Amino acid sequence: MKFNVLTIFPEILAGALKESILGKAVDKGIIELNLVDTREYAQDKHRMVDDYPYGGGPGMVMKPEPIFLAAESLETQHDIPLILLSPQGEVFNQELARELSEKDELVIICGRYEGVDERIIEGLNAREVSIGDYVITGGEFAALVIIDAVSRLIPGVLGDDRSCEDESFTTGLLEYPHYTRPASFRKLDVPDVLISGNHGRINRWRKERSLERTLKKRPDLLEKADLTEEDLEFLKSLGYEPESEK
Ligand SMILES: C[S@@+](CC[C@H](N)C(=O)[O-])C[C@H]1O[C@@H](n2cnc3c(N)ncnc32)[C@H](O)[C@@H]1O
Repeated sequence: MKFNVLTIFPEILAGALKESILGKAVDKGIIELNLVDTREYAQDKHRMVDDYPYGGGPGMVMKPEPIFLAAESLETQHDIPLILLSPQGEVFNQELARELSEKDELVIICGRYEGVDERIIEGLNAREVSIGDYVITGGEFAALVIIDAVSRLIPGVLGDDRSCEDESFTTGLLEYPHYTRPASFRKLDVPDVLISGNHGRINRWRKERSLERTLKKRPDLLEKADLTEEDLEFLKSLGYEPESEK
């Protein structure tokens, strides 16, 4: 998977993506990063990438020309998704991460200042994506979130590809709790079932904890989750009432 990122601060991404799991995925060639410095596509001698907003008001706006030229310089197919990071976009989630992880290539445009000239959205047919309902200073941090969430779904990136199978949101539920050694720590003990070696019991325990904590922390997820009759009975025993039965 190739990530083309258009940014005026490529070093923010270059530094972060050298480390840990993603750094190894880059070294192994499973993911490829093409960091494009849009300032290099600025047209004037001062390399201006921003200008004052028409109509007045605070802050600066990213000019269209450098971003159009940078996007057009990419040797990409026409049908690859072009994402414009914006707090006004559709909110990124695990489902969108999965969808994007199935592509061969992505283009991600990072905004700065007050954002980008509006003509970039229409002119480049960009899909606006937000990482949540808050405003950060620049798209680089949002790009890192998306690159990380998408990359770890690509086979070979995680040490064990099964790691993402049971994860929160993948199954529609929050994941079960984890414990490691020691079995007892400051009088806090690991649940006996996890040390029992009985995999049938362990799986059922994990499923129940997953259902229980989803009900407690994110009951909104249950309406869309793929629940068996057994799951539903268990949830009802904890007081859950499906919308359809209210
Ligand atoms: C300070 S923000 C601009 C916010 C814009 N003036 C508004 O109110 O909608 C600058 C840039 O940071 C990025 N950004 C900020 N918050 C974001 C979010 N929640 N998700 C994705 N990108 C975000 C975008 O690329 C945006 O163009």
